Amino acid sequence: MPPTAVPEPPGSHPGWPARLGPLRVRDHEVRLRPVRLRDGREWARIRQRDEAYLRPWEPTTHGGWARRNSSFEWPGRWYLLRSSARRGLSLPFAITVDGVLAGHVMVGNIVREPLLSAYVGYWCDSRFARRGITTAAVAMVLDHCFGSVRLHRVEATVRPENVASITVLCKLGFRREGLLLRYLDVDGGWRDHYAYAMTVEERPVGGFAAKLIRDGRAARA
Ligand SMILES: CC(C)(COP(=O)(O)OP(=O)(O)OC[C@H]1O[C@@H](n2cnc3c(N)ncnc32)[C@H](O)[C@@H]1OP(=O)(O)O)[C@@H](O)C(=O)NCCC(=O)NCCS
Repeated sequence: MPPTAVPEPPGSHPGWPARLGPLRVRDHEVRLRPVRLRDGREWARIRQRDEAYLRPWEPTTHGGWARRNSSFEWPGRWYLLRSSARRGLSLPFAITVDGVLAGHVMVGNIVREPLLSAYVGYWCDSRFARRGITTAAVAMVLDHCFGSVRLHRVEATVRPENVASITVLCKLGFRREGLLLRYLDVDGGWRDHYAYAMTVEERPVGGFAAKLIRDGRAARA
C-alpha cells in the first residue's frame, strides 16, 4: 500500500540515521552509512583528484574547486548535512566499497505531507566507475526511501549530456518527465536538465535491490 499523506508528528524524520546493505557487485561489497566528520581527508583526496570527472555535472563551486573540496571545507559541510538530516530534510549517505569511501548518495529536499517527496543525487570515485556500484547504492537508497522513510515520490535531475547518470536512472526504472530549461548553475552556467521521477507504485516486485539481483547486476553479500 502506498503511504498516505496524513499529518505526522512534528519533528518526525523516519529512517535516519541508517546503514544499508551490503550488496555484492562484481566482487565488491557495497554499503551505505551516514557521512561522518572523519571522512574529510578521503573525501578531499577523491574530489581533488576527480575534479575533471565531477565538475561538469556538479553545482558551480564559487571560490575554486581546490579550496571548496579541501579537507578544511569538509567539517562545515558535514555539520550542515548532519543538521539537515537531524531535522528530517535529507539523508546524506556515504557509499563505501569494501569499507572504503567511494562516493555519496544524497536524498535532499524531503517534504513530508502532503507531498512525501524528495530528490536523489550522487557521485562516485572514478576508480570505481562503470562497475554498477552507484546503481546498487541508489537501489538500496530507493528501497529505504519507499520503506522506512515512507516517501511517495523521488525525483532526479540530470544534464542531457550526462550519459552515465542517465544510464543509472534508466537501469533503476526512473521515468523522464520533461526538460527543465536553465535549471541549475552547473560548471559555470545555467544548464538545462531532464527531470526524472518515480513513485512508490512503480517499485519493482520485492524492491530495487531485489530486481538488480534478479537481473544479475548484484548479489546478496
Ligand atoms: C554518474 C555516476 C555517479 C555513475 O557512477 P557509476 O558507479 O559509474 O555508475 P554505474 O556503473 O552504476 O552505471 C553507469 C552506467 O553508465 C554507463 N556509462 C558510464 N559512462 C558512460 C559513457 N560515457 N557513455 C556511455 N555509457 C556510460 C556504464 O557502462 C554503466 O552502464 P552498464 O551498467 O549498463 O554498463 C558517475 O559517473 C559520476 O560520479 N559522475 C560524475 C558526477 C555525476 O555525474 N553525478 C550525477 C549528477 S546527475
